[in-house]
Amino acid sequence: MGYYTYRTPDSYNKTTPKSVFYTTLVENMKILVATEKPFAAVAVEGIRKEIEAAGYQLRLLEKYTDKKQLLDAIADADALIIRSDVIDNEVFEAAKRLKIVVRAGAGYDNIDLPSATAHGVVAMNTPGQNSNAVAELALGLMVFAVRNFYNGKSGSELKGKTLGIHAFGNVGRNVARIAQGFGMNVIAYDAYCPDEAMIAANVQPVHSAEELYQKSNIVSLHIPATAETKESINFKLLNQMPQGAILVNTARKEVINEPELVKLMRERDDFKYLTDIMPAADEQLKQFEGRYFSTPKKMGAQTAEANINAGIAAAKQIVDFFTTGNTRFKVN
Ligand code: 3PG
Repeated sequence: MGYYTYRTPDSYNKTTPKSVFYTTLVENMKILVATEKPFAAVAVEGIRKEIEAAGYQLRLLEKYTDKKQLLDAIADADALIIRSDVIDNEVFEAAKRLKIVVRAGAGYDNIDLPSATAHGVVAMNTPGQNSNAVAELALGLMVFAVRNFYNGKSGSELKGKTLGIHAFGNVGRNVARIAQGFGMNVIAYDAYCPDEAMIAANVQPVHSAEELYQKSNIVSLHIPATAETKESINFKLLNQMPQGAILVNTARKEVINEPELVKLMRERDDFKYLTDIMPAADEQLKQFEGRYFSTPKKMGAQTAEANINAGIAAAKQIVDFFTTGNTRFKVN
């Protein structure tokens, strides 16, 4: 039997502006997995093993339909594992014992980071753990697009086409690797990635988004949703793509300027948009039959392998944080 002692930051305790020490029996530590879109059962078992081996308790809240269920479940949790679940200030306010939240995945735009910091909660992600799954789905969408959504009419092949990868992170690199297997010519733009990393992967670097879109038959989006990227994929940029252009979005819907995408689809009947994140303008885009497709629910990371990788990495990061104080993947 052991104890875990935790000191809250001064900002956490609003009534007494002083830090407070909590001491919890390790066996009373509760790790909540709250996933509106659940992990594969095999991944949950892997997470359970990690958590129980450390002597903590696992709580599971899957497929919840109401935020109230999350607010109730979080009340006595010391740690939280989530996916795209929205963790806002209200959730942090309800989470009186929370010390760490781990987003089992790459993008953490669903966590209110300033609020996490104000509540003394460490936020982490698990970069790279689900990226192959997302990349495979991106290539699947590309095949679906060039084969005319499998409508029986003669389509075309990916081989020999130029693929533009917008952001060369973990998913972008996996997309490049698989696309090369298809015989595609792969180019990439990433303002934060050195040319050498692309060249080492046999990918040709380009030095502006405009150049990428001008040169690509297909663009695959892998930029995160940030203040800088929101609505940055607009009419002017997309309209520079050549005839028969295809845009594949397995990143975030927020990066698209949707009214301008609708205008582009209306003006260019050669343009196709395929996405794994249903746009707010889904109803409007549906009028472009045969040129627009969205998965009904984000499916990119929805494989047993990705769930195991990301879920178990999240559990290990939590155990490591509590036992050694390791904050390697901290994002706040
Ligand atoms: C991510 O950011 O890791 C991906 O978008 C996957 O999100 P998901 O876990 O909600 O499927």
